[in-house]
Amino acid sequence: MKVLLGITGCIAAYKAPELLRLLQKRGCEIHVAMTENAQNFVTATTLAALSRNHVFTGMFSDPDSVSGLDIAIDHIRLAHSVDLLLVAPATANALAKFANGIADDFLSTLYLATRAPVVIAPAMNSDMWSHPAVQANLRRLVSLGVSIVEPEEGYLAEGIIGKGRLAALETIVDRAFQAGAPPQDFRGDTVLVTAGPTCEDIDPVRFLTNRSSGKMGYQLAQAAQRRGARTLLVSGPTKLDPPGGVEFIDVRTTEQMREQVMKHLAEASIVIKAAAVSDFRPSATAGQKIKKDGQSLFLELVPNPDILKEVAAKKESRILVGFAAETESVLQNGLKKLEAKSLDLLVANDVSQPGAGFDSDTNIVTILTRDGKRLELGKRSKADVAEQILNEILAFRKRHA
Ligand SMILES: Cc1cc2nc3c(=O)[nH]c(=O)nc-3n(C[C@H](O)[C@H](O)[C@H](O)COP(=O)(O)O)c2cc1C
Repeated sequence: MKVLLGITGCIAAYKAPELLRLLQKRGCEIHVAMTENAQNFVTATTLAALSRNHVFTGMFSDPDSVSGLDIAIDHIRLAHSVDLLLVAPATANALAKFANGIADDFLSTLYLATRAPVVIAPAMNSDMWSHPAVQANLRRLVSLGVSIVEPEEGYLAEGIIGKGRLAALETIVDRAFQAGAPPQDFRGDTVLVTAGPTCEDIDPVRFLTNRSSGKMGYQLAQAAQRRGARTLLVSGPTKLDPPGGVEFIDVRTTEQMREQVMKHLAEASIVIKAAAVSDFRPSATAGQKIKKDGQSLFLELVPNPDILKEVAAKKESRILVGFAAETESVLQNGLKKLEAKSLDLLVANDVSQPGAGFDSDTNIVTILTRDGKRLELGKRSKADVAEQILNEILAFRKRHA
């Protein structure tokens, strides 16, 4: 794996040479880009000697460049050639620049130019870490698909204990491999994922829907695709871009979602139903906008088809994964659904908790399996939750092979 290691002006930059060595031990080719401030903490000479490659330090200040031209072209060439951009350690300043598209040095320009996966391991003082501006930038980065290796609680340079210490180097290396060289353990599978809400029209301008953003389903589709599966994503209306490499089928209503799921079911070896479908729809859709006349309006709702039930009836050997978004008795309701819908795995989440459920970039879930396994995952990014769900699908299949 060819890794571009970005180093910024943190005290933890002294750990960067060790990180570089660990990545090399795992067979990585390393190129280094340092911010100007990073050079106060670790020298370009050390990193050049260890990486055996030129270290990029400035947009125009590089001694090899003619008026900055060579280097300006180099950053695009490098951005396109790496398998992963790993920024470790990352300052609060670097997070802010990446989150807002500011490109005022070599590293931040390269961040915008690369289409490789990006992993960022921040390190800073605990008050800086918990500042709402830093947390907002982190949320933005997660929504842009960046994988954040959260800092740990521990002894900080200021002599206090708090959250902000650079994550363990082994953890950073593992996450780098997960993102940059994902295992191809779903090769040969066709994974059908449903995502997002559905919309049920009342009249040409009004509809019934729910608060699902589609983020969990999109992360699952992206992770399955990256791990080698042919991936079909059947999605209700969302604000998200379809992940690259995924076969995307957009629908609006529950009925349309049902039609597409049943149409493609035969091709799928794994079905993950992450969509929040509308259980009811208006019994009729008005052809014209309904006018107000000072009277109450009564909508008659009729039940929508139960897609999961129909899929379960044709389950055969495929693995079926469902989601339960609950606001009370999460595990009891989850277990009931697992049984009632003939699911192999059920991902239960309490959408009333902060940091879980609809529109959040993080989730707090418990994965339940038909054979009685229960895995509780604390609050983590939806990208991480997606990887864990895929891991549990493989583990389940292995137990029942
Ligand atoms: C001794 C020292 C240690 C610092 N450690 C950190 C740190 O761990 N995290 C951080 O976000 N900023 C830290 N800073 C502040 C950054 O160096 C500063 O915000 C700088 O503008 C970051 O520039 P860069 O992101 O271009 O590297 C430190 C500053 C000093 C003087």
